[in-house]
Amino acid sequence: MQIKQEKGHYTLYKENEAIGMAVVDGATILRLEIVPEWRGRGYGSYLVKELLRRGGGLDPKQTTRFTAPLPRDEAGRALARRFDFLPEGGRLVRRRVPDLSAVQLCHEFLEAHLTPGGLFLDATCGNGNDTLFLCSLAGQNGRVLGMDIQPQAVDRTNRRLKEAGYDKIGRAVLYDHARLGELVQPGKVDCVLFNFGWLPGAEHDIHSTADGSVPALRAALDALRPGGVLAAVLYSGKVIGDAEKQAALAFFRTLPLTKYTVLVCEFANWADTAPLPCFVIKK
Ligand SMILES: C[S@@+](CC[C@H](N)C(=O)[O-])C[C@H]1O[C@@H](n2cnc3c(N)ncnc32)[C@H](O)[C@@H]1O
Repeated sequence: MQIKQEKGHYTLYKENEAIGMAVVDGATILRLEIVPEWRGRGYGSYLVKELLRRGGGLDPKQTTRFTAPLPRDEAGRALARRFDFLPEGGRLVRRRVPDLSAVQLCHEFLEAHLTPGGLFLDATCGNGNDTLFLCSLAGQNGRVLGMDIQPQAVDRTNRRLKEAGYDKIGRAVLYDHARLGELVQPGKVDCVLFNFGWLPGAEHDIHSTADGSVPALRAALDALRPGGVLAAVLYSGKVIGDAEKQAALAFFRTLPLTKYTVLVCEFANWADTAPLPCFVIKK
């Protein structure tokens, strides 16, 4: 199967035969047809899916709004339903709004609680996204220290800090976060961020585990100043199991209310294995 595009005109070919076409203007599908003898075999779905994909409509991180004319027959209506097009104001509309991710929630929480000029730790720097984010919050007078047990994560984070012009604010070191207390003075840190699990894009066999993560959470709380925030995204699933998540939750639940506010922010209508953002504010 092949789709040839010339500006807003798409032609669907099976081998060398044109079996369908669509006319599209931006995110407006003006016309879509499959040659009658090829209908009912999934080619309409293939074409719609491809149009959506090319317009970002299948990307869960993008906000999109596609429109199409009202279908003339039941086959067209079934096709529209399959891709969540709904009748609205005399045409079909398909809207997608990105899901709030656990990491995004963490970032929004930290953005609301942290002020520039602080000392922030990224206890699992990985590919450096969180370290860069913390640098953007820390500003020129702040400091960010990232750490990871994998040299490629540390190198990549330091490279990205340099590229982003953040290398005066942040740096990453090869260090086990269970020993983060050796890197900072107790009670002086404004934020410690953990995004547990494995390094995205690398083999999954190196990942955080309960026996290191719980001491690291404890060390992070010792490092925080009063008013400081610990943020952690916990994971579970086939590869990583459930032990780390359960051990971290058990640890959070033992923390005395007189000293800590603890939030566990479950995505209640996702799978049980959905990433779990947790926050601890030191009183
Ligand atoms: C999900 S990734 C972190 C993503 C990262 N924050 C980013 O923005 O790209 C988890 C990272 O934790 C690291 N890690 C696992 N155990 C660790 C430990 N004991 N100390 C420090 N880092 C650890 C892994 O090597 C991996 O890079």
